Amino acid sequence: MRGGFGRRMTSGKETDFALSKLHPRAIQLVLNHFKRHAVPLLVALGSMVIVTMMSLAGPYLTKVAIDDYIVTGDLNGLTWIALLILLSYGVFWGGSFWQTFLSSWVAQRFIGDLRIQLYDHIQRQSIDFFHRRRTGDLLSRIVHDLETVSELVTSGFIHLLNDVLTLLGIAIILWVLDPPLALVTFFVLPPIAWIMNRLGKKMRQAYTEVRERLADLNVDVEESLSGIRVVQALNREAAKSGTFSRLSWDNLRANLRAASLFALLFPTMTISRVAGESLVLWYGGWRVVAGTLTLGVIIAFLGYVRRFFAPLAELSQIYNTLQHAGASLHRAVEILEEVPSVTEPSLPQSPSEGFKGEIVFDRVAFTYDQEQEHVLSGFDLSIKPGETFALVGPTGAGKTTVVNLLTRLYDPTEGAIRIDGIDLRAIASRDLRRIMAVVPQSVFLFNRSLRENIRVGRPQATDEEVETVAKLVGAHYFIRRLPDGYETRVGEGGSRLSGGQRQLIALARALLAQPRIMILDEATSSVDPHSERRIRQAMPSILQGKTALMIAHRLSTLESADRIGMIGEGQLQKIGTHRQLMQTSPLYRDLVKKQHVS
Ligand SMILES: Nc1ncnc2c1ncn2[C@@H]1O[C@H](COP(=O)(O)OP(=O)(O)OP(=O)(O)O)[C@@H](O)[C@H]1O
Ligand SMILES: [Mg+2]
Repeated sequence: MRGGFGRRMTSGKETDFALSKLHPRAIQLVLNHFKRHAVPLLVALGSMVIVTMMSLAGPYLTKVAIDDYIVTGDLNGLTWIALLILLSYGVFWGGSFWQTFLSSWVAQRFIGDLRIQLYDHIQRQSIDFFHRRRTGDLLSRIVHDLETVSELVTSGFIHLLNDVLTLLGIAIILWVLDPPLALVTFFVLPPIAWIMNRLGKKMRQAYTEVRERLADLNVDVEESLSGIRVVQALNREAAKSGTFSRLSWDNLRANLRAASLFALLFPTMTISRVAGESLVLWYGGWRVVAGTLTLGVIIAFLGYVRRFFAPLAELSQIYNTLQHAGASLHRAVEILEEVPSVTEPSLPQSPSEGFKGEIVFDRVAFTYDQEQEHVLSGFDLSIKPGETFALVGPTGAGKTTVVNLLTRLYDPTEGAIRIDGIDLRAIASRDLRRIMAVVPQSVFLFNRSLRENIRVGRPQATDEEVETVAKLVGAHYFIRRLPDGYETRVGEGGSRLSGGQRQLIALARALLAQPRIMILDEATSSVDPHSERRIRQAMPSILQGKTALMIAHRLSTLESADRIGMIGEGQLQKIGTHRQLMQTSPLYRDLVKKQHVS
Protein backbone atom coordinates (compact mmCIF):
# COMPACT_ATOMS: atom_id res chain seq x y z
CA MET A 1 0.00 0.00 0.00
CA ARG A 2 2.71 2.40 -1.04
CA GLY A 3 4.02 2.55 2.50
CA GLY A 4 2.17 5.81 2.92
CA PHE A 5 -0.41 4.94 5.48
CA GLY A 6 1.76 4.68 8.55
CA ARG A 7 3.96 7.58 7.55
CA ARG A 8 1.05 9.86 6.91
CA MET A 9 -0.28 8.98 10.31
CA THR A 10 2.76 10.52 11.89
CA SER A 11 1.71 13.91 10.69
CA GLY A 12 -1.74 15.29 11.17
CA LYS A 13 -2.47 18.13 13.48
CA GLU A 14 -4.75 20.45 11.53
CA THR A 15 -7.91 18.46 11.93
CA ASP A 16 -9.84 21.72 12.04
CA PHE A 17 -8.49 23.30 8.88
CA ALA A 18 -11.25 23.58 6.28
CA LEU A 19 -9.92 23.06 2.79
CA SER A 20 -12.36 25.67 1.53
CA LYS A 21 -10.34 28.26 3.45
CA LEU A 22 -7.25 27.47 1.43
CA HIS A 23 -5.67 30.65 0.16
CA PRO A 24 -6.40 31.21 -3.57
CA ARG A 25 -2.71 31.81 -4.09
CA ALA A 26 -1.99 28.31 -2.77
CA ILE A 27 -4.13 26.76 -5.47
CA GLN A 28 -2.53 29.05 -7.99
CA LEU A 29 0.92 27.92 -6.86
CA VAL A 30 0.05 24.25 -7.30
CA LEU A 31 -1.56 24.78 -10.69
CA ASN A 32 1.35 26.87 -11.92
CA HIS A 33 3.71 24.17 -10.82
CA PHE A 34 1.70 21.51 -12.63
CA LYS A 35 1.74 23.66 -15.73
CA ARG A 36 5.48 24.23 -15.54
CA HIS A 37 6.22 20.54 -15.11
CA ALA A 38 3.43 19.22 -17.29
CA VAL A 39 5.59 16.65 -19.11
CA PRO A 40 6.83 14.64 -16.12
CA LEU A 41 3.39 14.96 -14.58
CA LEU A 42 1.67 13.60 -17.68
CA VAL A 43 4.19 10.77 -18.00
CA ALA A 44 3.57 9.93 -14.32
CA LEU A 45 -0.18 9.95 -14.92
CA GLY A 46 0.16 7.87 -18.10
CA SER A 47 2.34 5.35 -16.27
CA MET A 48 -0.19 5.27 -13.49
CA VAL A 49 -3.00 4.37 -15.89
CA ILE A 50 -0.88 1.63 -17.48
CA VAL A 51 0.15 0.28 -14.07
CA THR A 52 -3.45 0.17 -12.92
CA MET A 53 -4.55 -1.64 -16.05
CA MET A 54 -1.74 -4.16 -15.81
CA SER A 55 -2.31 -4.89 -12.17
CA LEU A 56 -6.01 -5.37 -12.84
CA ALA A 57 -5.30 -7.69 -15.74
CA GLY A 58 -3.56 -10.28 -13.50
CA PRO A 59 -6.53 -11.97 -11.83
CA TYR A 60 -8.55 -11.85 -15.03
CA LEU A 61 -5.80 -13.62 -17.00
CA THR A 62 -5.58 -16.18 -14.19
CA LYS A 63 -9.27 -16.84 -14.58
CA VAL A 64 -8.82 -17.33 -18.33
CA ALA A 65 -5.90 -19.67 -17.69
CA ILE A 66 -7.95 -21.84 -15.33
CA ASP A 67 -11.29 -21.89 -17.10
CA ASP A 68 -10.13 -21.93 -20.73
CA TYR A 69 -6.88 -23.84 -20.64
CA ILE A 70 -6.32 -25.84 -17.47
CA VAL A 71 -9.85 -27.20 -17.26
CA THR A 72 -9.87 -27.97 -20.99
CA GLY A 73 -6.32 -29.34 -20.96
CA ASP A 74 -4.95 -26.92 -23.58
CA LEU A 75 -1.30 -26.90 -22.55
CA ASN A 76 -0.10 -24.84 -25.49
CA GLY A 77 -2.59 -22.09 -24.69
CA LEU A 78 -1.60 -22.36 -21.02
CA THR A 79 2.02 -21.61 -21.89
CA TRP A 80 0.97 -18.55 -23.84
CA ILE A 81 -1.26 -17.20 -21.14
CA ALA A 82 1.45 -17.72 -18.51
CA LEU A 83 3.84 -15.76 -20.69
CA LEU A 84 1.21 -13.05 -21.13
CA ILE A 85 0.79 -12.76 -17.38
CA LEU A 86 4.55 -12.44 -17.02
CA LEU A 87 4.64 -9.81 -19.74
CA SER A 88 1.87 -7.76 -18.15
CA TYR A 89 3.80 -7.70 -14.90
CA GLY A 90 6.94 -6.71 -16.77
CA VAL A 91 5.08 -3.66 -18.08
CA PHE A 92 3.74 -3.11 -14.57
CA TRP A 93 7.28 -3.14 -13.23
CA GLY A 94 8.53 -0.43 -15.58
CA GLY A 95 5.40 1.71 -15.31
CA SER A 96 5.44 1.46 -11.56
CA PHE A 97 8.97 2.77 -11.42
CA TRP A 98 8.20 5.78 -13.56
CA GLN A 99 4.98 6.54 -11.81
CA THR A 100 6.56 6.58 -8.37
CA PHE A 101 9.75 8.28 -9.41
CA LEU A 102 8.16 11.02 -11.49
CA SER A 103 5.43 11.80 -9.01
CA SER A 104 8.06 12.16 -6.29
CA TRP A 105 10.08 14.30 -8.66
CA VAL A 106 7.19 16.66 -9.29
CA ALA A 107 6.38 16.79 -5.57
CA GLN A 108 9.95 17.37 -4.47
CA ARG A 109 10.47 20.04 -7.09
CA PHE A 110 7.38 21.76 -5.81
CA ILE A 111 8.53 21.93 -2.22
CA GLY A 112 12.11 22.64 -3.28
CA ASP A 113 11.02 25.70 -5.26
CA LEU A 114 8.62 26.78 -2.55
CA ARG A 115 11.26 26.40 0.15
CA ILE A 116 13.71 28.66 -1.67
CA GLN A 117 10.98 31.18 -2.41
CA LEU A 118 9.96 31.18 1.23
CA TYR A 119 13.49 31.54 2.51
CA ASP A 120 14.24 34.46 0.19
CA HIS A 121 11.01 36.09 1.15
CA ILE A 122 11.68 35.70 4.86
CA GLN A 123 15.16 37.13 4.47
CA ARG A 124 13.73 40.25 2.88
CA GLN A 125 11.28 40.86 5.70
CA SER A 126 11.71 43.83 8.00
CA ILE A 127 12.88 43.39 11.56
CA ASP A 128 9.38 43.76 13.02
CA PHE A 129 8.41 40.56 11.20
CA PHE A 130 10.98 38.65 13.22
CA HIS A 131 9.77 40.20 16.42
CA ARG A 132 6.27 39.04 15.59
CA ARG A 133 7.21 35.49 14.68
CA ARG A 134 9.31 33.02 16.57
CA THR A 135 12.41 31.66 14.90
CA GLY A 136 11.41 28.11 15.74
CA ASP A 137 8.09 28.57 13.98
CA LEU A 138 9.75 29.91 10.87
CA LEU A 139 12.21 27.06 10.93
CA SER A 140 9.49 24.46 11.12
CA ARG A 141 7.64 26.14 8.28
CA ILE A 142 10.62 26.11 6.00
CA VAL A 143 11.76 22.62 6.88
CA HIS A 144 9.02 20.46 8.30
CA ASP A 145 5.77 21.89 7.01
CA LEU A 146 6.80 21.81 3.41
CA GLU A 147 7.53 18.10 3.58
CA THR A 148 3.84 17.62 4.26
CA VAL A 149 2.94 19.83 1.35
CA SER A 150 4.57 17.35 -1.02
CA GLU A 151 1.71 15.00 -0.21
CA LEU A 152 -0.62 17.43 -1.83
CA VAL A 153 1.02 16.57 -5.11
CA THR A 154 1.57 12.84 -4.61
CA SER A 155 -1.24 11.62 -2.36
CA GLY A 156 -3.62 14.41 -3.06
CA PHE A 157 -3.42 14.19 -6.78
CA ILE A 158 -1.72 11.16 -8.25
CA HIS A 159 -2.67 8.60 -5.61
CA LEU A 160 -6.19 9.89 -5.49
CA LEU A 161 -6.62 9.32 -9.21
CA ASN A 162 -4.90 5.98 -8.94
CA ASP A 163 -7.17 4.83 -6.12
CA VAL A 164 -10.33 5.93 -7.84
CA LEU A 165 -9.25 4.32 -11.09
CA THR A 166 -8.35 1.05 -9.37
CA LEU A 167 -11.59 0.81 -7.42
CA LEU A 168 -13.63 1.69 -10.46
CA GLY A 169 -11.73 -0.81 -12.60
CA ILE A 170 -12.22 -3.59 -10.08
CA ALA A 171 -15.90 -2.81 -9.67
CA ILE A 172 -16.46 -2.98 -13.43
CA ILE A 173 -14.51 -6.21 -13.88
CA LEU A 174 -16.30 -7.88 -10.98
CA TRP A 175 -19.63 -6.81 -12.37
CA VAL A 176 -18.76 -8.17 -15.79
CA LEU A 177 -17.49 -11.44 -14.34
CA ASP A 178 -20.51 -12.19 -12.18
CA PRO A 179 -23.04 -9.58 -10.94
CA PRO A 180 -24.44 -11.53 -7.92
CA LEU A 181 -20.99 -12.34 -6.54
CA ALA A 182 -19.95 -8.73 -7.19
CA LEU A 183 -22.89 -7.48 -5.12
CA VAL A 184 -21.97 -9.78 -2.23
CA THR A 185 -18.40 -8.48 -2.37
CA PHE A 186 -19.45 -4.84 -2.41
CA PHE A 187 -21.58 -5.54 0.62
CA VAL A 188 -18.53 -5.94 2.90
CA LEU A 189 -16.87 -2.73 1.74
CA PRO A 190 -18.69 0.01 3.69
CA PRO A 191 -18.06 -1.52 7.15
CA ILE A 192 -14.41 -2.01 6.27
CA ALA A 193 -14.03 1.57 5.09
CA TRP A 194 -15.69 2.71 8.31
CA ILE A 195 -13.32 0.69 10.49
CA MET A 196 -10.31 2.03 8.59
CA ASN A 197 -11.50 5.57 9.01
CA ARG A 198 -12.07 5.18 12.74
CA LEU A 199 -8.72 3.61 13.30
CA GLY A 200 -7.07 6.27 11.20
CA LYS A 201 -8.67 9.06 13.20
CA LYS A 202 -7.60 7.53 16.49
CA MET A 203 -4.08 7.08 15.23
CA ARG A 204 -3.87 10.66 14.11
CA GLN A 205 -4.96 11.84 17.52
CA ALA A 206 -2.39 9.58 19.12
CA TYR A 207 0.40 10.88 16.92
CA THR A 208 -0.62 14.48 17.52
CA GLU A 209 -0.26 13.71 21.19
CA VAL A 210 3.16 12.21 20.57
CA ARG A 211 4.29 15.28 18.69
CA GLU A 212 3.02 17.66 21.31
CA ARG A 213 4.72 15.75 24.09
CA LEU A 214 7.91 15.70 22.07
CA ALA A 215 7.69 19.45 21.54
CA ASP A 216 7.28 19.95 25.31
CA LEU A 217 10.36 17.86 25.83
CA ASN A 218 12.30 19.84 23.25
CA VAL A 219 11.34 23.17 24.72
CA ASP A 220 12.34 22.01 28.17
CA VAL A 221 15.73 20.69 27.07
CA GLU A 222 16.48 23.73 24.99
CA GLU A 223 15.52 26.16 27.69
CA SER A 224 17.31 24.46 30.52
CA LEU A 225 20.46 23.79 28.52
CA SER A 226 20.73 27.32 27.22
CA GLY A 227 20.10 28.54 30.74
CA ILE A 228 22.44 25.96 32.24
CA ARG A 229 24.56 28.62 33.96
CA VAL A 230 21.53 29.90 35.80
CA VAL A 231 20.35 26.37 36.60
CA GLN A 232 23.69 25.38 38.08
CA ALA A 233 24.39 28.66 39.79
CA LEU A 234 21.04 28.56 41.55
CA ASN A 235 21.20 24.85 42.33
CA ARG A 236 18.13 24.02 40.30
CA GLU A 237 19.42 20.74 38.80
CA ALA A 238 17.25 18.44 40.88
CA ALA A 239 14.06 20.34 40.16
CA LYS A 240 14.92 20.53 36.48
CA SER A 241 15.57 16.78 36.35
CA GLY A 242 12.19 16.18 37.97
CA THR A 243 10.40 18.22 35.33
CA PHE A 244 12.34 16.53 32.61
CA SER A 245 11.60 12.99 33.74
CA ARG A 246 7.91 13.82 34.05
CA LEU A 247 7.86 15.16 30.52
CA SER A 248 9.84 12.16 29.36
CA TRP A 249 7.27 9.78 30.88
CA ASP A 250 4.44 11.69 29.23
CA ASN A 251 6.23 11.28 25.96
CA LEU A 252 6.72 7.57 26.52
CA ARG A 253 3.06 7.04 27.36
CA ALA A 254 1.94 8.92 24.26
CA ASN A 255 4.29 6.86 22.14
CA LEU A 256 3.04 3.57 23.58
CA ARG A 257 -0.54 4.56 22.92
CA ALA A 258 0.33 5.34 19.33
CA ALA A 259 2.31 2.13 19.03
CA SER A 260 -0.60 0.02 20.27
CA LEU A 261 -2.89 1.56 17.66
CA PHE A 262 -0.29 1.10 14.99
CA ALA A 263 0.12 -2.52 16.02
CA LEU A 264 -3.62 -2.91 15.62
CA LEU A 265 -3.64 -1.48 12.13
CA PHE A 266 -2.18 -4.32 10.10
CA PRO A 267 -3.98 -7.21 11.79
CA THR A 268 -7.22 -5.26 11.37
CA MET A 269 -6.56 -4.75 7.72
CA THR A 270 -5.73 -8.41 7.27
CA ILE A 271 -8.80 -9.67 9.07
CA SER A 272 -11.04 -7.33 7.08
CA ARG A 273 -9.54 -8.64 3.91
CA VAL A 274 -9.89 -12.24 5.00
CA ALA A 275 -13.52 -11.54 5.87
CA GLY A 276 -14.07 -10.42 2.30
CA GLU A 277 -12.21 -13.40 0.90
CA SER A 278 -14.11 -15.88 3.06
CA LEU A 279 -17.39 -14.45 1.94
CA VAL A 280 -16.39 -14.78 -1.70
CA LEU A 281 -15.09 -18.30 -1.10
CA TRP A 282 -18.20 -19.36 0.74
CA TYR A 283 -20.80 -17.88 -1.60
CA GLY A 284 -18.77 -18.47 -4.76
CA GLY A 285 -17.92 -22.05 -3.75
CA TRP A 286 -21.57 -22.68 -3.10
CA ARG A 287 -22.35 -21.41 -6.59
CA VAL A 288 -19.61 -23.56 -8.15
CA VAL A 289 -21.05 -26.64 -6.45
CA ALA A 290 -24.45 -25.61 -7.79
CA GLY A 291 -22.84 -25.34 -11.22
CA THR A 292 -23.64 -21.67 -11.85
CA LEU A 293 -20.06 -20.37 -11.56
CA THR A 294 -16.65 -21.48 -12.79
CA LEU A 295 -13.66 -22.02 -10.53
CA GLY A 296 -11.64 -19.41 -12.42
CA VAL A 297 -14.12 -16.68 -11.50
CA ILE A 298 -13.74 -17.43 -7.76
CA ILE A 299 -9.96 -17.27 -8.05
CA ALA A 300 -10.18 -13.99 -9.97
CA PHE A 301 -12.55 -12.57 -7.38
CA LEU A 302 -10.18 -13.50 -4.58
CA GLY A 303 -7.41 -11.70 -6.45
CA TYR A 304 -9.50 -8.56 -6.85
CA VAL A 305 -10.73 -8.51 -3.27
CA ARG A 306 -7.08 -8.46 -2.21
CA ARG A 307 -6.48 -5.47 -4.46
CA PHE A 308 -9.40 -3.60 -3.02
CA PHE A 309 -7.84 -2.82 0.30
CA ALA A 310 -4.91 -0.54 -0.33
CA PRO A 311 -6.90 2.04 -2.31
CA LEU A 312 -9.78 1.77 0.11
CA ALA A 313 -7.58 2.45 3.12
CA GLU A 314 -5.96 5.32 1.32
CA LEU A 315 -9.22 6.88 0.20
CA SER A 316 -10.56 6.75 3.74
CA GLN A 317 -7.63 8.99 4.69
CA ILE A 318 -7.49 11.21 1.68
CA TYR A 319 -9.46 14.11 3.09
CA ASN A 320 -7.25 14.21 6.14
CA THR A 321 -4.14 14.08 4.05
CA LEU A 322 -5.38 16.92 1.91
CA GLN A 323 -6.47 18.87 4.95
CA HIS A 324 -3.10 18.49 6.50
CA ALA A 325 -1.08 19.35 3.42
CA GLY A 326 -3.47 22.20 2.67
CA ALA A 327 -2.97 23.69 6.12
CA SER A 328 0.80 23.58 5.69
CA LEU A 329 0.63 25.16 2.27
CA HIS A 330 -1.75 27.77 3.58
CA ARG A 331 0.71 28.76 6.28
CA ALA A 332 3.54 28.96 3.78
CA VAL A 333 1.43 31.21 1.55
CA GLU A 334 0.52 33.39 4.52
CA ILE A 335 4.20 34.12 4.91
CA LEU A 336 4.62 34.73 1.19
CA GLU A 337 1.83 37.28 1.40
CA GLU A 338 3.60 39.31 4.10
CA VAL A 339 4.80 42.63 2.79
CA PRO A 340 7.94 44.07 4.41
CA SER A 341 7.09 47.22 6.36
CA VAL A 342 10.38 48.77 5.28
CA THR A 343 10.24 48.79 1.50
CA GLU A 344 12.77 49.42 -1.25
CA PRO A 345 12.37 52.72 -3.10
CA SER A 346 10.96 52.36 -6.59
CA LEU A 347 13.23 55.17 -7.84
CA PRO A 348 16.35 55.03 -5.67
CA GLN A 349 18.43 58.19 -5.34
CA SER A 350 22.08 58.63 -4.54
CA PRO A 351 24.27 61.71 -4.80
CA SER A 352 26.44 61.74 -7.90
CA GLU A 353 29.80 62.10 -6.13
CA GLY A 354 29.09 59.57 -3.36
CA PHE A 355 27.80 60.24 0.12
CA LYS A 356 29.57 62.75 2.33
CA GLY A 357 27.82 61.47 5.40
CA GLU A 358 25.66 64.31 6.71
CA ILE A 359 22.88 63.00 8.95
CA VAL A 360 19.67 64.85 9.73
CA PHE A 361 16.76 63.71 11.89
CA ASP A 362 13.87 66.02 11.10
CA ARG A 363 11.06 66.02 13.66
CA VAL A 364 11.13 62.26 13.88
CA ALA A 365 8.47 60.42 15.84
CA PHE A 366 8.53 56.70 16.34
CA THR A 367 6.79 53.92 18.17
CA TYR A 368 7.46 50.17 17.95
CA ASP A 369 3.86 49.40 18.55
CA GLN A 370 0.83 51.52 17.64
CA GLU A 371 -0.65 50.88 21.07
CA GLN A 372 2.43 51.98 22.94
CA GLU A 373 3.70 55.42 23.78
CA HIS A 374 6.10 57.05 21.35
CA VAL A 375 9.74 56.25 22.03
CA LEU A 376 10.77 59.35 20.06
CA SER A 377 8.64 62.38 19.28
CA GLY A 378 9.72 65.57 17.59
CA PHE A 379 13.29 64.30 17.61
CA ASP A 380 15.70 66.67 15.83
CA LEU A 381 19.37 65.99 15.26
CA SER A 382 21.89 67.11 12.72
CA ILE A 383 25.37 65.64 12.41
CA LYS A 384 27.89 67.23 10.05
CA PRO A 385 30.02 65.17 7.68
CA GLY A 386 33.11 63.90 9.47
CA GLU A 387 31.76 64.79 12.89
CA THR A 388 31.75 62.42 15.86
CA PHE A 389 28.51 62.78 17.75
CA ALA A 390 27.84 61.05 21.04
CA LEU A 391 24.42 60.27 22.38
CA VAL A 392 23.92 59.85 26.10
CA GLY A 393 20.85 59.24 28.19
CA PRO A 394 19.27 56.91 30.69
CA THR A 395 18.48 53.25 30.00
CA GLY A 396 15.42 52.87 27.81
CA ALA A 397 15.59 56.50 26.64
CA GLY A 398 15.66 55.48 22.97
CA LYS A 399 19.35 55.56 22.01
CA THR A 400 19.31 52.18 20.30
CA THR A 401 16.04 53.20 18.70
CA VAL A 402 17.82 56.14 17.05
CA VAL A 403 20.34 53.64 15.67
CA ASN A 404 17.57 51.31 14.47
CA LEU A 405 15.97 54.17 12.58
CA LEU A 406 19.21 55.44 11.11
CA THR A 407 20.08 51.97 9.83
CA ARG A 408 16.52 51.70 8.55
CA LEU A 409 15.55 48.58 10.42
CA TYR A 410 12.38 50.58 10.97
CA ASP A 411 10.92 53.65 9.32
CA PRO A 412 9.87 56.67 11.41
CA THR A 413 6.20 56.98 12.17
CA GLU A 414 6.43 60.72 11.42
CA GLY A 415 9.12 63.05 10.15
CA ALA A 416 12.13 62.08 8.08
CA ILE A 417 15.74 61.05 8.34
CA ARG A 418 18.05 62.32 5.62
CA ILE A 419 21.58 61.53 4.59
CA ASP A 420 23.14 64.29 2.49
CA GLY A 421 19.64 65.66 2.07
CA ILE A 422 18.21 62.43 0.69
CA ASP A 423 15.39 60.75 2.57
CA LEU A 424 16.48 57.32 3.83
CA ARG A 425 13.38 55.87 2.26
CA ALA A 426 14.66 56.92 -1.17
CA ILE A 427 18.04 55.24 -0.78
CA ALA A 428 18.40 51.68 -2.03
CA SER A 429 19.18 49.38 0.90
CA ARG A 430 22.30 48.18 -0.89
CA ASP A 431 23.68 51.74 -0.94
CA LEU A 432 22.60 52.31 2.62
CA ARG A 433 24.36 49.21 3.93
CA ARG A 434 27.43 50.14 1.95
CA ILE A 435 27.80 53.60 3.46
CA MET A 436 26.96 52.59 7.01
CA ALA A 437 28.39 50.11 9.44
CA VAL A 438 27.06 49.37 12.89
CA VAL A 439 28.62 47.89 15.96
CA PRO A 440 25.46 46.85 17.77
CA GLN A 441 24.84 46.77 21.47
CA SER A 442 24.49 43.01 21.48
CA VAL A 443 26.91 41.39 19.11
CA PHE A 444 26.04 38.30 17.15
CA LEU A 445 28.82 36.23 15.60
CA PHE A 446 28.41 33.29 13.25
CA ASN A 447 29.82 29.96 14.36
CA ARG A 448 32.70 30.21 11.91
CA SER A 449 36.32 31.22 12.20
CA LEU A 450 37.30 34.64 13.55
CA ARG A 451 38.64 35.54 10.13
CA GLU A 452 35.33 34.76 8.44
CA ASN A 453 33.44 36.70 11.07
CA ILE A 454 35.52 39.82 10.51
CA ARG A 455 35.28 39.36 6.77
CA VAL A 456 31.48 39.56 6.89
CA GLY A 457 32.16 43.32 6.76
CA ARG A 458 33.66 43.06 3.29
CA PRO A 459 33.81 39.52 1.84
CA GLN A 460 36.44 40.39 -0.76
CA ALA A 461 38.94 41.76 1.80
CA THR A 462 42.39 40.14 1.86
CA ASP A 463 43.89 38.39 4.89
CA GLU A 464 46.23 41.37 5.37
CA GLU A 465 43.32 43.79 5.47
CA VAL A 466 41.56 41.60 8.02
CA GLU A 467 44.63 41.62 10.23
CA THR A 468 45.17 45.34 9.82
CA VAL A 469 41.72 46.18 11.15
CA ALA A 470 42.08 43.60 13.90
CA LYS A 471 45.32 45.30 14.96
CA LEU A 472 43.71 48.73 14.82
CA VAL A 473 40.93 47.79 17.23
CA GLY A 474 43.26 45.74 19.39
CA ALA A 475 41.69 42.35 18.65
CA HIS A 476 44.86 41.02 17.06
CA TYR A 477 46.54 40.58 20.47
CA PHE A 478 44.06 38.13 21.87
CA ILE A 479 43.50 36.39 18.54
CA ARG A 480 47.21 35.69 18.20
CA ARG A 481 47.22 33.91 21.54
CA LEU A 482 44.41 31.50 20.56
CA PRO A 483 45.62 28.03 19.49
CA ASP A 484 44.20 28.36 15.99
CA GLY A 485 44.66 32.12 15.70
CA TYR A 486 42.40 33.64 13.10
CA GLU A 487 41.04 30.20 12.22
CA THR A 488 39.52 29.68 15.69
CA ARG A 489 35.80 28.98 15.57
CA VAL A 490 33.85 31.25 17.86
CA GLY A 491 31.04 28.90 18.97
CA GLU A 492 27.33 29.47 18.63
CA GLY A 493 26.62 33.20 18.50
CA GLY A 494 30.23 33.78 19.55
CA SER A 495 29.85 31.98 22.88
CA ARG A 496 33.50 30.94 23.11
CA LEU A 497 34.62 34.56 23.26
CA SER A 498 34.23 36.98 26.13
CA GLY A 499 31.77 39.83 25.81
CA GLY A 500 34.60 42.31 25.29
CA GLN A 501 36.30 40.12 22.69
CA ARG A 502 33.05 39.86 20.77
CA GLN A 503 32.79 43.63 20.74
CA LEU A 504 36.30 43.95 19.36
CA ILE A 505 35.48 41.53 16.54
CA ALA A 506 32.31 43.47 15.74
CA LEU A 507 34.32 46.67 15.70
CA ALA A 508 36.90 45.15 13.35
CA ARG A 509 34.11 43.86 11.15
CA ALA A 510 32.49 47.29 10.90
CA LEU A 511 35.81 48.94 10.22
CA LEU A 512 36.66 46.52 7.44
CA ALA A 513 33.49 47.56 5.65
CA GLN A 514 35.06 51.03 5.14
CA PRO A 515 31.80 52.88 5.78
CA ARG A 516 31.22 56.63 5.44
CA ILE A 517 29.08 56.51 8.54
CA MET A 518 30.05 54.52 11.59
CA ILE A 519 27.55 53.76 14.31
CA LEU A 520 28.76 52.51 17.65
CA ASP A 521 26.09 51.44 20.13
CA GLU A 522 28.01 51.04 23.36
CA ALA A 523 30.63 49.35 21.29
CA THR A 524 33.22 49.16 24.02
CA SER A 525 30.98 48.78 27.05
CA SER A 526 32.36 45.35 27.96
CA VAL A 527 36.08 45.74 27.30
CA ASP A 528 38.53 46.34 30.11
CA PRO A 529 39.91 49.85 30.75
CA HIS A 530 43.24 48.86 29.24
CA SER A 531 41.76 47.72 25.90
CA GLU A 532 39.35 50.60 26.03
CA ARG A 533 42.20 53.06 26.27
CA ARG A 534 43.85 51.40 23.33
CA ILE A 535 40.67 51.68 21.28
CA ARG A 536 40.25 55.30 22.38
CA GLN A 537 43.74 56.05 21.17
CA ALA A 538 42.95 54.32 17.90
CA MET A 539 39.61 56.11 17.56
CA PRO A 540 40.93 59.06 15.56
CA SER A 541 42.31 56.71 12.91
CA ILE A 542 39.27 54.41 13.13
CA LEU A 543 36.89 57.30 12.61
CA GLN A 544 39.05 59.31 10.26
CA GLY A 545 37.01 60.78 7.43
CA LYS A 546 33.85 59.16 8.77
CA THR A 547 30.75 60.58 10.30
CA ALA A 548 30.21 58.80 13.59
CA LEU A 549 27.27 58.37 15.89
CA MET A 550 28.25 56.76 19.11
CA ILE A 551 26.34 55.82 22.14
CA ALA A 552 28.71 55.94 24.97
CA HIS A 553 28.91 54.55 28.36
CA ARG A 554 32.10 55.97 29.66
CA LEU A 555 33.19 59.51 30.24
CA SER A 556 36.53 58.77 28.63
CA THR A 557 34.83 57.88 25.35
CA LEU A 558 32.66 60.97 25.51
CA GLU A 559 35.64 63.27 25.70
CA SER A 560 36.71 62.24 22.22
CA ALA A 561 33.35 63.25 20.71
CA ASP A 562 33.02 66.57 18.89
CA ARG A 563 29.56 67.11 20.31
CA ILE A 564 27.37 65.32 22.80
CA GLY A 565 23.58 65.14 22.85
CA MET A 566 21.52 64.22 25.91
CA ILE A 567 18.39 62.29 25.06
CA GLY A 568 15.35 62.24 27.30
CA GLU A 569 11.59 62.14 26.89
CA GLY A 570 11.89 61.26 23.24
CA GLN A 571 13.93 64.31 22.28
CA LEU A 572 17.40 65.75 22.40
CA GLN A 573 17.44 67.79 25.56
CA LYS A 574 20.80 69.43 25.29
CA ILE A 575 23.66 69.53 22.81
CA GLY A 576 27.20 70.72 23.29
CA THR A 577 30.82 69.75 23.75
CA HIS A 578 31.84 67.96 26.88
CA ARG A 579 33.13 71.22 28.29
CA GLN A 580 29.97 73.16 27.43
CA LEU A 581 27.70 70.55 28.92
CA MET A 582 29.79 70.40 32.08
CA GLN A 583 29.18 74.11 32.46
CA THR A 584 25.55 74.37 31.41
CA SER A 585 23.88 71.08 32.27
CA PRO A 586 23.56 70.05 35.89
CA LEU A 587 22.15 66.74 34.74
CA TYR A 588 25.23 66.02 32.63
CA ARG A 589 27.50 67.14 35.44
CA ASP A 590 25.66 64.78 37.70
CA LEU A 591 26.06 61.86 35.29
CA VAL A 592 29.75 62.55 34.84
CA LYS A 593 30.30 62.88 38.53
CA LYS A 594 28.87 59.42 39.02
CA GLN A 595 31.15 58.25 36.24
CA HIS A 596 28.24 56.45 34.73
CA VAL A 597 26.82 58.01 31.62
CA SER A 598 24.34 55.69 30.03
N1 LIG B 1 11.58 45.75 19.48
C1 LIG B 1 10.94 46.53 20.36
N2 LIG B 1 9.61 46.43 20.46
C2 LIG B 1 8.93 47.21 21.34
N3 LIG B 1 9.50 48.10 22.15
C3 LIG B 1 10.82 48.24 22.10
C4 LIG B 1 11.62 47.46 21.20
N4 LIG B 1 12.91 47.82 21.36
C5 LIG B 1 12.92 48.78 22.31
N5 LIG B 1 11.68 49.04 22.75
C6 LIG B 1 11.31 50.04 23.75
O1 LIG B 1 11.74 51.30 23.31
C7 LIG B 1 12.29 52.06 24.38
C8 LIG B 1 13.67 52.54 24.00
O2 LIG B 1 14.53 51.44 23.87
P1 LIG B 1 16.03 51.59 23.40
O3 LIG B 1 16.55 50.21 23.15
O4 LIG B 1 16.10 52.54 22.29
O5 LIG B 1 16.70 52.19 24.70
P2 LIG B 1 18.22 52.60 24.95
O6 LIG B 1 18.24 54.06 25.18
O7 LIG B 1 19.07 52.07 23.88
O8 LIG B 1 18.50 51.86 26.32
P3 LIG B 1 19.86 51.15 26.82
O9 LIG B 1 20.72 52.22 27.42
O10 LIG B 1 19.39 50.21 27.88
O11 LIG B 1 20.47 50.44 25.67
C9 LIG B 1 12.28 51.15 25.59
O12 LIG B 1 11.23 51.56 26.42
C10 LIG B 1 12.01 49.78 25.06
O13 LIG B 1 11.18 49.07 25.93
MG1 LIG C 1 20.51 50.62 23.78
